[in-house]
Amino acid sequence: MEHLVSGWCNDRSLPESYILPPEKRPGKLTVPLANNIPVIDLGGHDQTDLIQQIFEASQEFGFFQVINHGVPSNLMDEAMSVFKEFHALSGEDKAIETSKDPNKSCYIYTSSPNYATEKFHFWRDGLMHHCNPLEKYIQFWPEKPPRYREVVGPYTAEVRKLGFRILEFISQGLGISPDHFSSGLSENQTLLVNHYPPCPDPSLTLGVGKHRDPGGINILLQSDVYGLQVFKDEEWVGVEPIPYAFVVNIGYLLQIISNGKLKGAEHRVVTNSNVARTTASLFINPSSETLVEPAKALIDASNPAFYKSLTYKDFLSKYIAASSDSKALEEALSTTL
Ligand code: OGA
Ligand code: NI
Repeated sequence: MEHLVSGWCNDRSLPESYILPPEKRPGKLTVPLANNIPVIDLGGHDQTDLIQQIFEASQEFGFFQVINHGVPSNLMDEAMSVFKEFHALSGEDKAIETSKDPNKSCYIYTSSPNYATEKFHFWRDGLMHHCNPLEKYIQFWPEKPPRYREVVGPYTAEVRKLGFRILEFISQGLGISPDHFSSGLSENQTLLVNHYPPCPDPSLTLGVGKHRDPGGINILLQSDVYGLQVFKDEEWVGVEPIPYAFVVNIGYLLQIISNGKLKGAEHRVVTNSNVARTTASLFINPSSETLVEPAKALIDASNPAFYKSLTYKDFLSKYIAASSDSKALEEALSTTL
């Protein structure tokens, strides 16, 4: 794991392989903070109102934040501490702690999973592991820091519950069965703990390039350091860190299931030169063989399906082949283009 950014970032200026082509660079480093990205209070008791707020945010932004979401704040603090402690381990320890499963349900990478073939690299290390069913996967998670499993087990269980609650609200907003996501479409639950060390030149590189998440939803703990930006109306806007909120973003899968009503939002991560940023994404995604298609309840003679039916595995190969070219992906998946 000699490539991990955290292993060498203090000793070097920005290597050439991290310098993005001019059109992909962050441009203005200070973009407006999106105080128009909805912050939804899940503690409210009016379910109809909550469904409406979540639906509108998912339609317009593909992004929102949630507060009073039920995940205990001390659990969020503890999880963030062990995530930071993990990324502060030596490269050797990180390699040992992420190679316990020969089937690679837990692994670490740097930049992106395509480090070996990508044209340029991103300023990020990522620890990835499955988290459901917990009993099956927890044995392969890191044992250093010592409290990792003890803290992250309950953390993922709580955040998954929150994720399912939000998916239920989204289903109700769409007018499809509230348990539309209860089987194959949500079977694959993965945690990605991102770490973006301080960067010698944030104007030339990114932590993560412009992308849409491929799957269902991501429940993101973004800590108190700014870095996440959303592409809205042809402009980048920043997502303000709010203490103890989660950022929720809609992935491409929901765009397909909703037959284009909801938006898989494009986003990216900028780096900064002062402090490290650690975040944790909990993705709720389909299993590989699950069929991904517009919900039948939304399709009839006057509302034809805009997206082809594909297994999630086949969808992912098209997603990867299109790279971050959203037009190419739309063409590959569309029934009409
Ligand atoms: C991701 C992602 C954002 C962040 O993990 O897909 O977009 O702020 N992360 O780390
Ligand atoms: Ni993302």
